[in-house]
Amino acid sequence: MRQYSEEPVLDESVNDIIKAAHFAPSAMGKHAIEFVVIKDEAAKEGLSRIIGQDPVASAPVLLLLVVNADISPMPEHDLAVGSSFAMVQAAAMGLGTAWIHIEKDQKKEIRKILDIPENYDFINIIPIGYPKDELLDHSDNDFDRGKIHSEKF
Ligand SMILES: Cc1cc2nc3c(=O)[nH]c(=O)nc-3n(C[C@H](O)[C@H](O)[C@H](O)COP(=O)(O)O)c2cc1C
Repeated sequence: MRQYSEEPVLDESVNDIIKAAHFAPSAMGKHAIEFVVIKDEAAKEGLSRIIGQDPVASAPVLLLLVVNADISPMPEHDLAVGSSFAMVQAAAMGLGTAWIHIEKDQKKEIRKILDIPENYDFINIIPIGYPKDELLDHSDNDFDRGKIHSEKF
């Protein structure tokens, strides 16, 4: 989702989303993900300027998953799984999210703004908010059953 209403998101809802990401499966069960919750308008503007994608400025809350690369044996895998669980939990609560990719050359400035230590990595940022318009669901018609291979490819 890329357009958010101005309705605020409760801290309890953000905590539920964070818990879903925390309890997601993680490499060797290390649960090495930590979370930065960003609501400050100036910080959101700064991040939006660096990342260059509208949802970053317009969502009421931004959630950044960061992983301690000294602890996780598979940092990027952990971030992808944690992000997915966060997004599914948000959707279950009627909230919209988006996976906003962070480019490698954007990381230095983001670290500076958010005080993220060098041994923590991140791959995306997740805006969270209530949908501005009705969300379009996927339908069965969109699914190509030819993608399922039985027994062998
Ligand atoms: C690895 C990955 C990177 C993505 N990067 C972006 C992004 O930078 N900006 C964006 O608006 N959406 C991004 N998306 C979201 C997708 O473009 C798409 O919106 C999402 O898959 C939902 O649409 P769909 O259900 O039609 O696939 C990304 C998704 C994934 C999984």
